[in-house]
Amino acid sequence: MNTPRVLLTGAAGYIASHTWLQLDAAGFEVLGVDNHSNSSPKVLERLQPLLRQPLRFERLDCSDAAAMKALLTRERVDAVVHFAAYKAVGESVAQPLDYYRNNLGSLITVCQAMQQVGCRRMVFSSSATVYGDPQQLPIREDAPTSATNPYGATKLIGEQILRDLGASDPQWQTGCLRYFNPVGAHESGRIGEDPRGVPNNLMPYVAQVAVGRRECLQVFGGDYPTPDGTGVRDYIHVLDLADGHVAALRRLLDHEGSFTVNLGTGQGYSVLELVRAYAQASARDIPYDIVARRPGDVAACYADPTRARELLGWQARRDLDAMCRDSWRWQEQNPQGFA
Ligand code: WQD
Repeated sequence: MNTPRVLLTGAAGYIASHTWLQLDAAGFEVLGVDNHSNSSPKVLERLQPLLRQPLRFERLDCSDAAAMKALLTRERVDAVVHFAAYKAVGESVAQPLDYYRNNLGSLITVCQAMQQVGCRRMVFSSSATVYGDPQQLPIREDAPTSATNPYGATKLIGEQILRDLGASDPQWQTGCLRYFNPVGAHESGRIGEDPRGVPNNLMPYVAQVAVGRRECLQVFGGDYPTPDGTGVRDYIHVLDLADGHVAALRRLLDHEGSFTVNLGTGQGYSVLELVRAYAQASARDIPYDIVARRPGDVAACYADPTRARELLGWQARRDLDAMCRDSWRWQEQNPQGFA
């Protein structure tokens, strides 16, 4: 088969940029697009020397139907990996219309452009947030789903859109990947997670405390029904997550049919376990205060990754220490991120 050609939307983002590296290393031809609404153009400068092939990128908004159709007409790709979306839970509660328009509007525009040019393979960036407050752990893909915030609703509705598309036209093949908690960075330290403003997520906040950008971590809740009272999550190294996208694309290219899989390690860690691991990896103190629970948080959430292993031949390989070590290398070398 010719070298598979893949379009990444939201390509300059945290997970997409790491997926770009892994796809390139796996021999895929990659074209990236991004409108930089939530990513820095500097990511592209950092990526170039790490790639085997010349970097191919176009600044483009996925909600621009004409631009997306023109691009896909010119660039015959075998599949699209759709990352482009807003992803801050709290922000989605405050600005639901922006989230529904951007996340669902872009997905529909990209799918329509793909349909018009006859490209019908999509890997879709979904999230474990579709499980709401899980009643059974570890979480299997057939667990009940529910949206507890507009961001999560855009992921749940996005999956439904793709299921309905597949039902309307069996030529469509989609792989929905439900990410657990992506953390860490490429071992080069050249790219990593660089949230805008105050980080919502735990590890980037811990990293900024370690490097001296933030004074003290607030631990949201110490009275959960968990071993040490703090929230438990399934942290997965962003490169393992990226490798999951490579495996998902290979599955779509080599087999018929669609699938939905969890991308997690199957191992949960508490907030305090992560803080201790990060302090060890960075040899820095991580001061913290235990404060009230964050509204909307669940006590524990971790994956049953069996289906991804059986269907994609994929499983996470990097442990929590590697996640912390790689995150710290990025943060120490880039105290202000891509600024
Ligand atoms: C992890 C744990 C917090 C920050 C969210 C989205 C999910 C995905 C990942 C996009 C929890 C605790 C956190 C802090 C803390 N995003 N915490 N202090 O909430 O599991 O998932 O981000 O796809 O869709 O829902 O991740 O990193 O915010 O929180 O104590 O400053 O760390 O209470 O127990 P979460 P998180």
